[in-house]
Amino acid sequence: MKSKYRTCGVLKANLLIYSARKACGKGLSHRNLSQNALNMPARRLRVVVPMLRENFGRLVTYQRFRYKKRLHSPRPSSRGPATKIQDRSERLMSSVTTNHAPRGLEGVVATTSKICYIDGDRGVLAYRGIDIHELAHQSNFEETCYLLWFGKLPTRRELRELHERLAEERKLDASIITLLRNAPRHALPMDVLRTAVSALSFYDPQEKSNDSKANVDKAIRITSQIAMIVAAYDRIRKGQSVVEPDRSLSHAANFLLMLNGKQPSPTAERALDIALILHADHELNASTFAARVTAATLSDMHSAITSAIGALKGPLHGGANEAVFQILQAIDASGADPIDYVKGMLAQKKKIPGFGHRVYHTEDPRATHLRAMSRDLGTSSGQAKWFEISHKIEEFVKADKKLNANVDFYSASTYHTLGIDVDLFTPIFAVSRVSGWAAHVIEQLEDNRLIRPRAEYLGPEYPNHYVQIDQR
Ligand SMILES: CC(C)(COP(=O)(O)OP(=O)(O)OC[C@H]1O[C@@H](n2cnc3c(N)ncnc32)[C@H](O)[C@@H]1OP(=O)(O)O)[C@@H](O)C(=O)NCCC(=O)NCCS
Repeated sequence: MKSKYRTCGVLKANLLIYSARKACGKGLSHRNLSQNALNMPARRLRVVVPMLRENFGRLVTYQRFRYKKRLHSPRPSSRGPATKIQDRSERLMSSVTTNHAPRGLEGVVATTSKICYIDGDRGVLAYRGIDIHELAHQSNFEETCYLLWFGKLPTRRELRELHERLAEERKLDASIITLLRNAPRHALPMDVLRTAVSALSFYDPQEKSNDSKANVDKAIRITSQIAMIVAAYDRIRKGQSVVEPDRSLSHAANFLLMLNGKQPSPTAERALDIALILHADHELNASTFAARVTAATLSDMHSAITSAIGALKGPLHGGANEAVFQILQAIDASGADPIDYVKGMLAQKKKIPGFGHRVYHTEDPRATHLRAMSRDLGTSSGQAKWFEISHKIEEFVKADKKLNANVDFYSASTYHTLGIDVDLFTPIFAVSRVSGWAAHVIEQLEDNRLIRPRAEYLGPEYPNHYVQIDQR
């Protein structure tokens, strides 16, 4: 009912403004007038009636369209500062948009998807409805990829075929290896990965195709290639030879083989495999959203994955796992008490990497597994100190700030005990998340519409006339 009344009010306001402006000969467009009207105080509407007759039909049609759209639009989150923004915009000027912008799009439902289910209050994460805990205990990364890309668990034969396809695609054009060799030695692996993935499109046999079959093929190819690029670049920068993959090994084992030059232990392989499952998808996280936005312009898979890698790099997203380990290292090197160290960061208003989440208000279900892996691998490798420091920090931040550890917190100590360099942590996130990005690109293109939201304008009032340079 409420929204019906609001629509009536808005309609009256539009009619008033339109007729009044028309009478004044301001010449503003019908669309702008209607949008300006949304900020009109209700009492002004009472003066309207005589002015309404003209153009009634056109405005009613337009308002019906807007009303229908609003019914299907998400309301701003109740937690967000939408009200404050509204007040501010009314003081500054009338906005040309009608919805108020929740900061960071919090609470905005931006698309429909059948890939990933999250219940942030209960700490539930599921791919295609299957709980992440079940997948972590019983599945493997290849099967998870199949689930994400094809929407169901594979049969034995389908899984074998996917293994074979991934193995076939584990090759890089010589030019990509040259690109990796030519990168400056100080180049961050994440930057090299972003550039190399973009360059992969030059040599992709289906570069010009953007249909569903081609995109599934590209998903398989890029998943194999990203793991190769991360491993190969690490060896090249250390002056080591590039290691060939082994067709008989899993994706996780192949990655560790290509990285370290020797077959991993079953424990290391399984640990990485679980980490890859846990990181594979996470609904509309920032990098996946970036991938979908790029795909929605009908660009291509390589562009979408390149956009996603750029978004993943930031310390508020995938880059947090590297920042976590830098803190653990700083505490270890200085011999500082972990709690004092973190208190010091909070006193300087710094965020503690690896804590907090936009969606989870309870334990991040991925952190549950990574905590256990960090503890077990730390103990078995004689490096328990990283888990111990992490655990002290977690207990304190949870008690003091009511913030839970997220996926990045214990992945840092887990990867370190697997012998992986710090600046490879985020690229390894990409080695896994490419599966989710590709699934979302494929889904986006199945029912595509350009993703083009609006901004709530708070800048100088229009018209803000151009001033000649010598008069400024
Ligand atoms: C993940 C994250 C970006 C979510 O952010 P968000 O939903 O936008 O929440 P905000 O950044 O607005 O934070 C809300 C409040 O919690 C605090 N907060 C959130 N995460 C915090 C952290 N890791 N350490 C300390 N305080 C934190 C903020 O300072 C803010 O406090 P305030 O209201 O007093 O200003 C945020 O928690 C964060 O920056 N975490 C650290 C980086 C990280 O681990 N990223 C990986 C996410 S998987």
